[in-house]
Amino acid sequence: MRVGVVGCGHVGLVTAAALAHLGHEVAATDSDLEKLALLSEGGVPFFEPGLPELVAEGAAAGRLTFVPETADVVRDREVVFICVGTPPREDGEANLVAVERVARAIARAATGPLVVVEKSTVPVGTAERVRRTLARERPEIAFEVASNPEFLREGRAVRDALEPDRILVGAETETARAALRALYEPLTCAGRRLIETDIATAELAKHACNAFLATKVSFVNALARICERAGADVRSVAEVMGTDPRIGPEFLEAGLGWGGYCFPKDLAAFARLAEDLGYPFPLLQEVARINDEAVEAAFERVRDALWNLEDKRVTLLGLAFKPGTDDVRFSPALALAERLLAAGATVVGYDPQATAAAKAELPAMQVCEDPYDAADGAHCAVVCTAWGEIRSLDLGRLREVMRYPILVDGRNALDAEAAIAAGFTYLPLGRPTLVSRQGT
Ligand code: UDX
Repeated sequence: MRVGVVGCGHVGLVTAAALAHLGHEVAATDSDLEKLALLSEGGVPFFEPGLPELVAEGAAAGRLTFVPETADVVRDREVVFICVGTPPREDGEANLVAVERVARAIARAATGPLVVVEKSTVPVGTAERVRRTLARERPEIAFEVASNPEFLREGRAVRDALEPDRILVGAETETARAALRALYEPLTCAGRRLIETDIATAELAKHACNAFLATKVSFVNALARICERAGADVRSVAEVMGTDPRIGPEFLEAGLGWGGYCFPKDLAAFARLAEDLGYPFPLLQEVARINDEAVEAAFERVRDALWNLEDKRVTLLGLAFKPGTDDVRFSPALALAERLLAAGATVVGYDPQATAAAKAELPAMQVCEDPYDAADGAHCAVVCTAWGEIRSLDLGRLREVMRYPILVDGRNALDAEAAIAAGFTYLPLGRPTLVSRQGT
């Protein structure tokens, strides 16, 4: 099919490349002309495993092109995806200005019947707004609107796009449903599940998924605070919980909590939307509070271990909001860095992929491309992101370059026994502190 994609960010670019891989003819555009130029030369503006190869494959096959005008991804197309950002406003409400602007541009450029699909995570009722905007601009065109929320986890977005747990399609007409069935036919033929609902259900289900996942993580982080006070081990408690198939082991890793572009904004937008609908959802505010508290717990561990933070040097191992991405948006590591800087510490950050992005976000933090250089002379090191490169650090070498042997494990990612064998005082979150037998 001939497909258009508006927005080439983490969602739009993966969607465009995946649909080209499935055999469709895809034209994609973005308002950032620099990004478009980079894409047209085969570059990918962010780290996402497998994405450069997928984009190159589509471009080489002539099934994926990057064009400067929205009109170029609408004209003679059957389906157009809206994949633009829906950032949180000050009060948490999703900012849908970009969605409306794109809907109007699509309407103006339309040359015939068109299925317009919202891929970005949006509050329930947005598709209806899009439909009315399209009809108002071009009452003579037969537009169809559908919701097809993305479930792309950063760091594994290509896998999630080509091997989805489910494809969710919200539509009100057979025409829209038929178009999306045809679009995803290569995946449903391969046994992937397509769930068809009305539009409101699809929009709500997406918010509900992310809010529930965030709630699950905050639950285990509240449990971590209780374990710290009870002298228990949250990893052991979570392990037992996870053996109950109704709970499951996923998303029960206590640590610095969640970040990224999706959870924070979707949680705030969902809470605001519920309130606007006349059903305040205070549980979601508590989920966000517990998440902020997790960073504070790590900060307190550093401060307890170091006494005064002025004149102290703290190294952060990992800066991205999670492994597998260079995305530092709402990263707990940067929230901790800000807290430490405000308390007068010198902060040095290292990350396998996100060092440059983190430095741009937080210029007051020093950064190093090598973990051992970053830890040189440090009074404390904090594991903030559970990258493989950090889990496999030579702890003996790390101890040698550091001033004090204080290791806070903000992701409970290291082997505690190995840490104390290397001479560290090992301070995880939600688990008992272990002091090296070398007595430091
Ligand atoms: C999420 C949703 O999973 C995805 O479906 C949606 O489309 C986009 O948002 P993402 O934000 O990339 O994906 O990250 P995810 O892997 O879901 O993790 C979210 C956050 O929770 C990360 O900061 C991660 O570090 C944290 N997390 C996850 C924990 O702190 N503990 C866990 O056990 C699991």
